Amino acid sequence: MKEKRFHIRARISSNTELRPDIFLMKVVAPEVASASVPGQFCMVRSSLVDTYDPLLARPLSIHRVDVDTGELEFLYRVVGKGTRALSRQVPGEEITILGPLGTGFHLKPGVIPILVGGGLGVAPLLFLAQGLKGQRGVVIIGAITKSQLLRLEPFRETGLEILVATEDGSFGNKGLVTEVLDRLLSRLDDDAKRDIEVFSCGPYPMLRAVYHLCQEYDVGCQVSMETHMACGSGLCLGCAIEAKGGYLHVCKDGPCFRAEELIWD
Ligand SMILES: Cc1cc2nc3c(=O)[nH]c(=O)nc-3n(C[C@H](O)[C@H](O)[C@H](O)COP(=O)(O)OP(=O)(O)OC[C@H]3O[C@@H](n4cnc5c(N)ncnc54)[C@H](O)[C@@H]3O)c2cc1C
Ligand code: FES
Repeated sequence: MKEKRFHIRARISSNTELRPDIFLMKVVAPEVASASVPGQFCMVRSSLVDTYDPLLARPLSIHRVDVDTGELEFLYRVVGKGTRALSRQVPGEEITILGPLGTGFHLKPGVIPILVGGGLGVAPLLFLAQGLKGQRGVVIIGAITKSQLLRLEPFRETGLEILVATEDGSFGNKGLVTEVLDRLLSRLDDDAKRDIEVFSCGPYPMLRAVYHLCQEYDVGCQVSMETHMACGSGLCLGCAIEAKGGYLHVCKDGPCFRAEELIWD
């Protein structure tokens, strides 16, 4: 089947600073919203950057979609020129979007999902959780401290079981998301484990720890990976990562991978 992707200008309906330097942007992009699956991303470019600087389109995960209003959400942290320009845009202005791009999560029927997000790693997981509304499943969200937890309410609205971990113990379980995952998996018998699949996004050390836990308990694991990206479309080969069968490209083969396909250092 031919992939549907669009290169469009999308009107911003809101761009809200949720925490210092963390923004939630909603844009109207009905064609992208309808064609997207959880785990995919868009190359997003602010209209406030120099038109002749092609490198300033930046990959952002699709955080949530609303096919009724045609809205698409991005949750992003301001780290440099591209994201700073996005943060300065106001409702009514436009941004350029190329997407949806990449390979999303594979959700097999009958699977009981455990979503594990650390920090801004919740960005692609809310779209996945949105599609699981009313089903069995668990979301584990972690942050260093309570004030850095992101998007707890929208996750709660999905009806999935929510477990929270903060490193300083200011909210939920004290410790890392991986400790919560460890406790959860250790309580399951072999029958229950057969149906479990873990879906995770977050910093590399966290993903590596999630992968090792899933290996230990023999449960499926998919991860959303990040690299620097220039084209987002498989042309520049700049987003290669090492996998067991050679190199894979995060923008095309991923960003979502079965964790056992990859080489973890
Ligand atoms: C598939 C994918 C999905 C992503 N989804 C999101 C998302 O939903 N929300 C979000 O906030 N960010 C996300 N990112 C990361 C985001 O793309 C970068 O933060 C952004 O490109 C930075 O652009 P900039 O121009 O603001 O900063 P730059 O000026 O390009 O960089 C500023 C600093 O950040 C570092 N940096 C830039 N990109 C990355 C990266 N990918 N990994 C590690 N360090 C980086 C640079 O080395 C530099 O030190 C995603 C990345 C990928 C590959
Ligand atoms: S970003 Fe260019 S090939 Fe992946």
